[in-house]
Amino acid sequence: MEFHKVGAKPCSSYLFFAILLLFAFLASFADAAVHFHEFVIEAKPVKRLCRTHSTITVNGQFPGPTLEVRDGDTLVIKAINRARYNVTLHWHGVRQLRNPWADGPEFVTQCPIRPGQSYTYQFTIQNQQGTLWWHAHSKWLRATVYGALIIYPKLGSPYPFPMPKREIPILLGEWWDRNPMDVLRLALFTGAAPNISDALTINGQPGDLYRCSSKETAIFPVEAGETILLRIINSAMNEEMFFGVANHKLTVVAVDSAYTKPFATNVIMIAPGQTTDVLLTADQTPARYYMAAHAYNTANAPFDNTTTTAILEYKSAPFSAKKGQSLKPIFPQLPGFNDTATATAFTAQLRSISKAKVPLEIDESLFFTVGLGLINCTNPNSRRCQGPNGTRFAASINNVSFVFPRRNSLMQAYYQGQPGIFTTDFPPFPPVQYDYSGNVPRGLWQPVKATKLLKLKYRSKVQIVFQDTSVVTVEDHPMHLHGYQFYVVGSGFGNFDPKNDPAKFNLIDPPERNTIGTPPGGWVAIRFEADNPGIWLLHCHLDSHLPWGLATALLVENGVGKLQTVQPPPLDLPRC
Ligand code: C2O
Repeated sequence: MEFHKVGAKPCSSYLFFAILLLFAFLASFADAAVHFHEFVIEAKPVKRLCRTHSTITVNGQFPGPTLEVRDGDTLVIKAINRARYNVTLHWHGVRQLRNPWADGPEFVTQCPIRPGQSYTYQFTIQNQQGTLWWHAHSKWLRATVYGALIIYPKLGSPYPFPMPKREIPILLGEWWDRNPMDVLRLALFTGAAPNISDALTINGQPGDLYRCSSKETAIFPVEAGETILLRIINSAMNEEMFFGVANHKLTVVAVDSAYTKPFATNVIMIAPGQTTDVLLTADQTPARYYMAAHAYNTANAPFDNTTTTAILEYKSAPFSAKKGQSLKPIFPQLPGFNDTATATAFTAQLRSISKAKVPLEIDESLFFTVGLGLINCTNPNSRRCQGPNGTRFAASINNVSFVFPRRNSLMQAYYQGQPGIFTTDFPPFPPVQYDYSGNVPRGLWQPVKATKLLKLKYRSKVQIVFQDTSVVTVEDHPMHLHGYQFYVVGSGFGNFDPKNDPAKFNLIDPPERNTIGTPPGGWVAIRFEADNPGIWLLHCHLDSHLPWGLATALLVENGVGKLQTVQPPPLDLPRC
C-alpha cells in the first residue's frame, strides 16, 4: 500500500484514517489467541514433611499448571472433576465482564461440579496485565488446588520497565500434614478455630528449614548481572506474609494485574489473594541466597510461625548445587511476625503507574465493619461449642454473618427469578454505632446469620470503607472483591473519621487492586464504578474466616442493552 500518497486531500485522509482504524481493529483480533486446557481435578500422592498424602491436584501437579496468556486472549478451560469432593475453580482477579458464570465461587455464581461431572470455564482477559492466579473456590480445596495466571501485554506492547532476562512465578502456600478438607470439617463441627498449617511453602516446597524437605527446595538459577522478574502470589490459606531475598533489593512494578510506580524495598508484605511483581538484579557476589517468607500475624491467635525458603543461585557461584556441593545460602532478614510498622510502610508506597480514573463523585457511600464474632450456645462447652468460653466462632460484615445458599447458586436464582434464596437488604452501615476498634461491649459480639446481598445500580460510583473491629481480636482482613478492580484511596488506624479522613484520600494515583487488607484495628477505603453487572462475592481471603461468614455479595443490576447486561449462562453450567 502506498501510504505516502494518501492524505493529499482532506477526504482521503479521513479514508486513510478509517482504513488504519479498521486494520488496527482487525489486528487486535488477529493477535488475540484462544487457549484450550483440560484441568482434571484428581487425588495424587504428594509427599511433604516425610509423609505421603492423597492430595487433590490439577492434572496431578502441585501447585497446579501455570497459565500464560496475553491481554485480550480467551481461555477455555474444561474442569473435569475426578475427585471425591464437589469442586469449582475461580480465576482470581479476572474481571469477567458480564460473565459471572465463569467466576467460580461455589453457590455464588454456580453450583459445584459434582464428582464425575465437568464444566467449561470460558472467559476473555480485558485490559489486565501482570500476575493473577486461579484456585478452587469450594470448602478448603484451594489449599492444594491453585496455580499462577500470567498475563503478558498484547503482542508488540512492551512492559513499562526494562525487559527482564527471565521470569519466575513464586507461589507462597501453606501445607497441612493432614487432609485440609478434614481440618475444615473438624473446625466447623466443633466451632473452634481450624488447626494452623504445618509448613509454609514456595512453589509447593517447604524448603530447607523443615524435616525431609531440603532435597526438593526450589532453586532458581540466575546469571550474574541479569535482572529477573519475580511474580509473587500469596496463595496461602490464612497467613499474610513477609517475603525477602538475602542481600537483594526488590523493585515493585505491579500488584494484582495493574502496574505501579516502581519503588525499591528490602521486603514485601503480601496478603492471601494478592500478587506482587518485583524486579531483582543479580548484582551481588556470585553465591547462593535464600528467598524466604514467614507470617505477618496481626491477630491475637495461634499462627504458623515457620519459615519457608527457596534458593537464588548464581550460575557462576563457586560451589553451585550442580557441582554436587552445597554452599550454605545467605539468609535474609525478615521483619518480626507482628511488625505492623513495616507492613504499613510497604503498603503505603504503592501507587498506580499513571493518573488513575478514580470516581470523584460518589453515589453509594458504604461503611462496612469487618471482624470476628462468637455465637452463644444453649449448651456451652458441648462438643459443638468448643470456641472461646463455650461458644462457636463466627465472622461478619455489618453484623451479618453470611450464609451460603445450598439449594441453588445466588446467580442462578437471580437469573431464573427463583425467590427464597437471598434477600437484597444488606445494611450499608452497621446497625449499631460503637467504638469499633476500642473496647466492644460483649452484647455486640454475636452476629446474625443471613444471606443478604447489596444491590447496586449499573455504573453507580461506589465507595466502601472497611472498618476492622476488635471483637475477639483486631486483625488484617484481606478483603477481596470478585469481578472488579478497585482503587485503594486511603487507610488508617483506629476508627474511620468521615469528617476528616476523606480529605486525605489519594484520588490522583491510588493503587488498583482486587484484594486489600484492613490495617489491624484500622480502616481502608476503596472506590470503583459498578460497571460489571452480576453477583460478585466480596469476602475475607483468610479461609478460616470465609466459612464463618466474613462475606457478602454485591448484586450489580444490568444497565441498558446487551452490552450492559449479563450474558446468558453456558449450557453446561452445573445445576444444584
Ligand atoms: Cu481468591 Cu473468592 O477468591
